[in-house]
Amino acid sequence: MSTVKRVTIRDVAGRAGVSVATVSRVLAGDYPVLAATRNRVMRAVRELDYVPNAHARALSAARPGAIAIVVNTVSVPYYAYIAQGVEEQAAREGRLSLICTTGGDPGRELSIVQLLREQRAEAVILVGSVVVDEEYRKRMTEYARSLAAAGSRLVLCGRPPLEEGGPALVVGFDNAGGARAVTAHLLSAGHRRILYLGLRPGHSTSDSRVAGYRDALAAHRVPADPALEVEGEFSREAGYAALTARLSLGPPDFTAIFACNDLVAAGAIQALREHGLRVPDDMSIVGYDDVPPAVDLGLTTVHLPHDELGRTAVRLALGRDVTGPTILGTHIVVRDSVRPLVVR
Ligand code: ADE
Repeated sequence: MSTVKRVTIRDVAGRAGVSVATVSRVLAGDYPVLAATRNRVMRAVRELDYVPNAHARALSAARPGAIAIVVNTVSVPYYAYIAQGVEEQAAREGRLSLICTTGGDPGRELSIVQLLREQRAEAVILVGSVVVDEEYRKRMTEYARSLAAAGSRLVLCGRPPLEEGGPALVVGFDNAGGARAVTAHLLSAGHRRILYLGLRPGHSTSDSRVAGYRDALAAHRVPADPALEVEGEFSREAGYAALTARLSLGPPDFTAIFACNDLVAAGAIQALREHGLRVPDDMSIVGYDDVPPAVDLGLTTVHLPHDELGRTAVRLALGRDVTGPTILGTHIVVRDSVRPLVVR
């Protein structure tokens, strides 16, 4: 019978060309180490698939670590509300929470995850839309492995799972279902020409929302028109710019707008106003997320359980809930931004 030789800390030290003490310091995160040295050690850890023995786990089990949430920015309500849920649950569980921002830069994300590993965070929760490609899958798998080796857990929140039984825990929401429901709401009100505002091909959140929109059109036997799918980022400025450009082409060839989130809807409403178009008398509009400014605008939208997402992410990370994908429900909140079309 052949036995697999266990990779030891000595193997890692040899591969990285440093002392065992240095490897130990990098893994423990309890002593300053040059970034270049730390990177060499972490590369060797990954290449050898080194998993520290019970020592690392015992260290992290000895005291509760912080729960870290990593987001693009805290100035977008979507992220801020999920962070709020994380903070509340972490506090309930007697943990501190750390909020880290990447500005959407994968390089910054990587260094944050490394730092959190060294700081012995108990869990790292990564939030938000991503382009799911091979590079992304590889990066997330490496994060999950390297965090697990330090006794920490990775949770993907509002991001697609890696693969069946992959190393990361996942909590998501029914993105496509919400988009289907809100598009069906417009269709039931008689709208047939519905502009989708905020297409971002390849981005997980955008792809699911567009898929829901197209599904609803198909279910109502309304042909999808690519000319009604307008590209744009998930921001107020992008919504304003994209709709202004569209309206400058001439009178709208659509009666309703599905904005990919409430911020885009807010920008679009400003563009409509500047073109003398009133909501909902001249144009119907719906959003997604149910964050301010949806209430103030009287915007019909899809409610996202932001705090529940954050709370569930923490519970999963601490092993309080079932492991495996957890998809939370979404529902429409009907306000005053959709006008039923009179069918003549
Ligand atoms: N709503 C859902 N995903 C979002 C994102 N990535 N940015 C802003 N708002 C969002």
